[in-house]
Amino acid sequence: MYFKQVLDERCGCASYIIASRQSHEAAIVDPSIEIEQYEALLQERDFRLRYVIDTHIHADHVSGARRLVERHGADLCLHESAKVTYPFRPLRDGETLDLGQLRLRVVHTPGHRPELLSLLVVNPERSPEPSMVLTGDSLLVGDVGRPDFGGGDAAAQYESLSRLLRLPDWVAVFPGHFEGPCGKGMCGRPSTTIGFERLYNPLARLERTPFVEHLTESVPARPLNITAIEATNRGTANLPWAMLTSSPHVPEVGLEALDSGPPDAMVIDVREPSEYAAGHVPGAINLPQADLATRLEELPRDRQLIVICQAGARSMRAARFLTQVGFDRVVSVAGGTGAWAESGKPLERAETLAVDVRIVETEWAHGGGHRPASTLTEPVAGA
Ligand SMILES: [Fe+2]
Repeated sequence: MYFKQVLDERCGCASYIIASRQSHEAAIVDPSIEIEQYEALLQERDFRLRYVIDTHIHADHVSGARRLVERHGADLCLHESAKVTYPFRPLRDGETLDLGQLRLRVVHTPGHRPELLSLLVVNPERSPEPSMVLTGDSLLVGDVGRPDFGGGDAAAQYESLSRLLRLPDWVAVFPGHFEGPCGKGMCGRPSTTIGFERLYNPLARLERTPFVEHLTESVPARPLNITAIEATNRGTANLPWAMLTSSPHVPEVGLEALDSGPPDAMVIDVREPSEYAAGHVPGAINLPQADLATRLEELPRDRQLIVICQAGARSMRAARFLTQVGFDRVVSVAGGTGAWAESGKPLERAETLAVDVRIVETEWAHGGGHRPASTLTEPVAGA
């Protein structure tokens, strides 16, 4: 067999090429939109693409599945419950795809998304047992996929994790992410084993109730442009440019820019609505990073845009995206709303405080590490 993991540093995603060296048939799992990297490999190895499988409808990157299938005529496969507007080969739990001498066995592992599937890889000439499992965003290294992106279910994730952890110890685990906003505590390694995760994944030892509580009590913000990216992957929109694919220089400014910037500057708070409602810099408008690409027309191109978040990470990525799509007077506020509040400046609050304040600031949208507690958004008493 042939097996290759392809890591994408920008979104923390992993994609996979699995092929039979006997029949030269290949499958690609969770391809990124930059399909040329896979095509070069197919050509070099003289592989014929037979299946392109998305483990789920992705929210943080645009899938290259349809583009690959258009060019190569392979089967585009998703779990049968996937809600997309384009035709696909529906996969069912327990179904097996033949790939030369190899077998790819479908395991439905909902939780992160209802349609999420994992794939067991069996090479019967070597063993009747699976040697590997591709887990999408169900079991991650030291973590599991978060269930709050829409349609996810923490209890289902518990069942899926339990099911996967009943596999033999030696089974190698290859997840859909090594970093990224789809989990909140990933280790950073690109692979692991069932045996190691059963022993050392902190979530593997939790009973159902604390597991569900852990997954739902605090979450990172929804990823940059999730609205546009998910719609693109469902086929209801065509906005592949919504992915941040560059790192343009964006000036970081201090809090003084909020007081002494150009009088017509627009302050854009890219945090979640609940965070904004709990307290924001006076005059800032709320445009969550999740919705940025689909609401660009609300932003003026002839005024300075001062982008702010809680601690400065989300605002920098949002500001880079705005620069990438042609806004040329964009700055990001270092330290964000947290620094503004700590310096004793007043916050403006929504009249009715949204109750759902549980967003955790992360190092950056694909970082798993949490910031110290002092930078977390706290509910504002009495507001
Ligand atoms: Fe995901």
